[in-house]
Amino acid sequence: MSINGEWVGEELDLLKVSNPANGQIVGSVPNGGEKEANLAVEAAHRAFQTWSKTTAYERANHLKRLHQLMLENQEELAQIMTLEMGKPINESRGEVNYAASFIEWFAEEGKRIYGETIPSHTSGKRLQVWKKPIGVVAAITPWNFPAAMLTRKIGPALAAGCTVIMKPSGESPLTAVKLMELCEEAGFPKGVVNLITGSSSKIAKAIMDDARVRKITFTGSTEVGKILIRQSANQVKRLSLELGGHAPMIVLDDANVDVAVKGVMASKFRNAGQTCICANRIYVQASIYDTFVAKFAEAVEELKVGNGVDESVDIGPLINQAGLDKVNHHVQDAITKGATILTGGKSITSDGGVFFAPTVIKDVDQSMVVMQEETFGPVAPVQKIASEEEAVKLANDTPYGLAAYVFTENVARGTRVIEQLNFGIVGWNDGAPSAAQVPFGGMKESGIGREGGHEGIDAFVESQYVSIGLE
Ligand code: SIN
Repeated sequence: MSINGEWVGEELDLLKVSNPANGQIVGSVPNGGEKEANLAVEAAHRAFQTWSKTTAYERANHLKRLHQLMLENQEELAQIMTLEMGKPINESRGEVNYAASFIEWFAEEGKRIYGETIPSHTSGKRLQVWKKPIGVVAAITPWNFPAAMLTRKIGPALAAGCTVIMKPSGESPLTAVKLMELCEEAGFPKGVVNLITGSSSKIAKAIMDDARVRKITFTGSTEVGKILIRQSANQVKRLSLELGGHAPMIVLDDANVDVAVKGVMASKFRNAGQTCICANRIYVQASIYDTFVAKFAEAVEELKVGNGVDESVDIGPLINQAGLDKVNHHVQDAITKGATILTGGKSITSDGGVFFAPTVIKDVDQSMVVMQEETFGPVAPVQKIASEEEAVKLANDTPYGLAAYVFTENVARGTRVIEQLNFGIVGWNDGAPSAAQVPFGGMKESGIGREGGHEGIDAFVESQYVSIGLE
């Protein structure tokens, strides 16, 4: 852990980090709790008094240095990531670039936190809106994108003049440790960036109880997000929440089937299906259903499963046994209710790892768990639909609203369908919509606020309206 510029925690118990590809222990981190959280808040609060007064240009220089260091250390970061959470090495390299792109984008965007001058109703006043950094920020991040979820939060926070406490997932804290080293090398002053590891519940409680922490930015499950909403009420803490998804992919009869198959492959199998915006349920119009599923299953059969350190692997392990059990349950439920497995459909035990074969299931319907809940695994259920209207109705029939995908070559139809979809992100003939410069986040129970783009930095500033009397 790093608190106030010092590496600490040697006296604490250690939490082991194991590689889900083979169960081997790849590292350990201190099991911090309330005391360490309090020290980190203290450090971040003290550092805020000076960091918040630096210019956007000074802050950008630190962030640009961090961006450069991340690119220089891409391979090491990627290797750590693959070892601790299983992502195929090429995806890990891609994630490091993606993570660094948030730092670069927000280094620049920090210079564009403009206030406003509003025309006054009387000649004796000037009305202005000033922008102030929110204060100390706690960034609580998940295991599935150990680098990018941190930088998408700390990039805008630091650029806006906030100080941060990073709390990575216990499953993948080692990437965060390396990132913390790079923050140190980038020369952020003591206490501006802090890292704590350990008990999520104890650390979260200490952070939520401390009024000096003004903002929580969290990526994780809707269940935990709701707890944070309740806990934040006491001090009306600001919240940004990026929560669960259950993304529909709609393939209409005027889609280019090859483009749709490419899109679903990119979306569904990224990170072995353990991505909040993965296509989770696929609706294909009847006249192209058979062609689509045949081409899709053929492409999926080509995917190689294995330990992510192998350069030729496309699908790594699931994060742990609980993840594997959930995927198995979804598939077994679909089979019991009459669905047909076209490829995959089973777990693979190899070398102590937790793998599931990339799977395409056809003849599914809404009664099946796989169409009702986020699977978070490499399983693609494909349902036949009759019409555009049916697709929209089924797609929206969920409490979630993170991402959706639509495949059609018809501009009028695509526009009409997307306008009716209640999702924060839509890929139209595109299975990979994520980027640093765009707003990422969900409607309904998928979250509050947006990360990335200019909205991503708005989340870390408060508006202060100033009425200036001139007479
Ligand atoms: C996520 O799974 O929450 C992140 C995916 C992305 O940024 O594209």
